[in-house]
Amino acid sequence: MIFRQLFDRESCTYTYLIGDDSTREAALVDPVRDHVGRDLVLVADLGLTLAHVLETHVHADHVTGAGELRKQTGCRTHVAREGGAPCADDALDGGDVVRLGAIELRAIATPGHTGGCMSYLVGEKGRFDRVLTGDALLIRGCGRTDFQEGDARKLYHSVREILFALDPGTLVFPAHDYRGMTVSTIGEEKEKNPRLRDGVTVDDFVAKMAALNLPPPAKIDMAVTANRACGDEPVLLRQG
Ligand code: FE2
Repeated sequence: MIFRQLFDRESCTYTYLIGDDSTREAALVDPVRDHVGRDLVLVADLGLTLAHVLETHVHADHVTGAGELRKQTGCRTHVAREGGAPCADDALDGGDVVRLGAIELRAIATPGHTGGCMSYLVGEKGRFDRVLTGDALLIRGCGRTDFQEGDARKLYHSVREILFALDPGTLVFPAHDYRGMTVSTIGEEKEKNPRLRDGVTVDDFVAKMAALNLPPPAKIDMAVTANRACGDEPVLLRQG
């Protein structure tokens, strides 16, 4: 499997490029519009063909590259049905699978940060050794739950009952990191995540999340509207 982690400095977003060694089909997960050029050069350098773009959710902090990538390559775009992005070619439900040759990206519904958050379990030949957790589970943290249908109780359930039920050795690749961390494991987060580790009750978690009092992301109005249209230009112009 070809697996690359790419970074956007402005929003601290990770984009993942995943490709099949033999068919050379590839997918980008959570591409950032400002980096479409960089991502397509890497796809070409590695001799890959971009077949799919997947979002872990409708983002509030950056504009997706999905629409532009689709325009340039003809790839298919996928967003959770609950995400409210009718521009996508495929509305994903939990359990849906996107295939790249022998590689499977299995969608797991992990709502709570937004109503339509998907994590993607990634593997081949029935062996799933990594999970892209979007903003549901971050390294020693989690996504905020105070906008876009955020719901701390749902997020607690998604992380504790769904993600933490995966094999403890499963590698965790989040959608963001603000401190330079790149990868963790399910077992490590179960033990060390200060918000969601073993012993934290749902009521503790809800209280912690309510006390965060974070300012809204700088680009939220523009980004959410643009991302519901897959980041395509006309919406950006209407939004100024
Ligand atoms: Fe997010």
